[in-house]
Amino acid sequence: MYQATSVTELRQYMQHWKDHGHSSAFIPTMGNLHGGHISLIEKGQSLCDRSICSIFVNPMQFGPNEDWDHYPRTLDRDIAQLEAVGCDLVYLPTASELYPDGLDRISHVQVTDLTDHYEGAHRPGHFTGVATVVLKLFNIVKPDISVFGKKDYQQYRVISKMVEDFNLDVQIIGQETTREDSGLATSSRNQYLDAEQKQKAALIYQLLQQTAQQVDKGERDFTMLRQRALENLDEAGFKTDYFCICNAETLLSATPEDRDLVILVTATLGQTRLLDNIEISLW
Ligand code: PAJ
Repeated sequence: MYQATSVTELRQYMQHWKDHGHSSAFIPTMGNLHGGHISLIEKGQSLCDRSICSIFVNPMQFGPNEDWDHYPRTLDRDIAQLEAVGCDLVYLPTASELYPDGLDRISHVQVTDLTDHYEGAHRPGHFTGVATVVLKLFNIVKPDISVFGKKDYQQYRVISKMVEDFNLDVQIIGQETTREDSGLATSSRNQYLDAEQKQKAALIYQLLQQTAQQVDKGERDFTMLRQRALENLDEAGFKTDYFCICNAETLLSATPEDRDLVILVTATLGQTRLLDNIEISLW
């Protein structure tokens, strides 16, 4: 696997592949890789000739009280995993090259509408940081496709909207969420759960599935379904930030006429904030 740390180096590899007619799939990450990330690389490999993964703990998407300093950095292990899966190139940008004049001086990308609620409301500025760094990375790497996890459903939609709004020449692919046997969505945060909490955490996906089944069977009282799920989470000791049945495209509260839905949930167990969702297609 090749490694590039500067824009110039990265572009040389990309140009070489382009000259040889190879298509490229790009997977941006913040490292501390697990099965979810690896599934994105594999998806990219199934669609393109070359796969490129970036690892960059982007300071711009962390709030002042968030854990940028403590975000797990496990570069040696990440590189070993990328080599094992046959990734072609890892891009390890430096903050000084991406943000040469600091975070305050760089222009910002603000994706409208989709960023006001849910994670956007709980983490002000978060999606501006995500969209800005992803736009920069797209312009540096210039891939044919880029794969994002539906685990972070709102992020996947925000990036898709940015690509649409700015006519970016990259195709966004959404990859299904990788889960543990219990149904718990794979996440680097799962390592903070003890054995008992881990068992309990499986309730999130169980409730998502139960609620989705009820919607699928024709239940349209979304307020009641939401309330029931919130009570279940509360009784089990979760602090729920939101459990919302939404239109999958706009992420606004679903109406009974909507056909493509998604249920977004974020709930905290102990100190660990867990994020998950389920899509529902009623066609
Ligand atoms: P990070 O949290 O490292 O996630 C990188 C990618 O892995 C995202 O597209 C995320 O949705 C995906 N992912 C995480 N867990 C997954 C799972 N269980 N199943 C499938 N995919 C999963 O998301 C970011 O980094 C950053 O915001 C980034 C886009 C890199 C911009 O800095």
